[in-house]
Amino acid sequence: MTKRHGHSHDDWFDMAEVLDLDAVLLDEHFQRIFGWAKELVGDPRTIVDLGAGTGAGTFGLARTFPKATVVAVDQSEKMLGQLQEHAEGQQLNSRVSTVRADLDEQWPVLGKVDLMWAATSMHHFKDSAKIFDNIRKSLAPGGVLVLVEMVALPRYLPVDLGFGVAGFEERCHAATDKAGFNAHPDWSADLEAAGYTELGQQTFDYAQANDQKRLARSTAMSLARLRAHLIDGLRAEDLATLDQLLDPESTRGVARRNDLVMRGSHKVWAARPR
Ligand SMILES: C[S@@+](CC[C@H](N)C(=O)[O-])C[C@H]1O[C@@H](n2cnc3c(N)ncnc32)[C@H](O)[C@@H]1O
Repeated sequence: MTKRHGHSHDDWFDMAEVLDLDAVLLDEHFQRIFGWAKELVGDPRTIVDLGAGTGAGTFGLARTFPKATVVAVDQSEKMLGQLQEHAEGQQLNSRVSTVRADLDEQWPVLGKVDLMWAATSMHHFKDSAKIFDNIRKSLAPGGVLVLVEMVALPRYLPVDLGFGVAGFEERCHAATDKAGFNAHPDWSADLEAAGYTELGQQTFDYAQANDQKRLARSTAMSLARLRAHLIDGLRAEDLATLDQLLDPESTRGVARRNDLVMRGSHKVWAARPR
């Protein structure tokens, strides 16, 4: 069974900023994913973004499919509040609406949906089989489900930081992997078992070195999360390295670096009920 990781209120609080940063830093990368989905799904008019967060997917979908309305569903009032603000700022509020629902507890009334989108959210739901069943019932004839997951959490740092022991970031990730961060199955078998036919799957890589200021913020948020959760999983010298990287006063702090490269990949599945 796949390990699911829990989130405290504070995690989701920080997560909103992380998601907004990702939306800016990985904009081109996400565009490629929307482009791939467009080839498969054609011209959907009703789209639902499940676990929408602050709306990186919602707004990308609204732009990719200019005739569609997009409903963003999330359990978090904070996320949806920010999403609504962004919708107004981007003049997309006539086509974007929000529904607050804890999908583990209730399935909202959504009407018939042409495209159901779940980006890095499916692995958070407690009972994915139940969610797949609800999605199937909500899809219009010919409707498509697209799932997006991070293959691994993003990396930012060079192997040799110029201090500490080389390979610091990989050791941090070994610890997060052990703690079950981002754990998700290869959804193909679950989709098959839930009565879907897979239309395609694809992995999209990114390596983003532009905008060192935002990259430093993104790196710091990622390291701070490690610091909060993995203190026991790291050896003393790596913990010291982590603290130096996170210290805004230190010359070794991430804010002083200009060699950050955010890199990683997303895997995408598209499927249709049989
Ligand atoms: C990692 S974020 C992804 C956000 C967005 N899809 C993106 O790619 O930017 C996961 C989101 O799923 C939401 N979520 C987690 N469990 C949920 C549940 N049971 N019901 C509804 N939303 C949930 C969280 O509030 C969070 O906004």
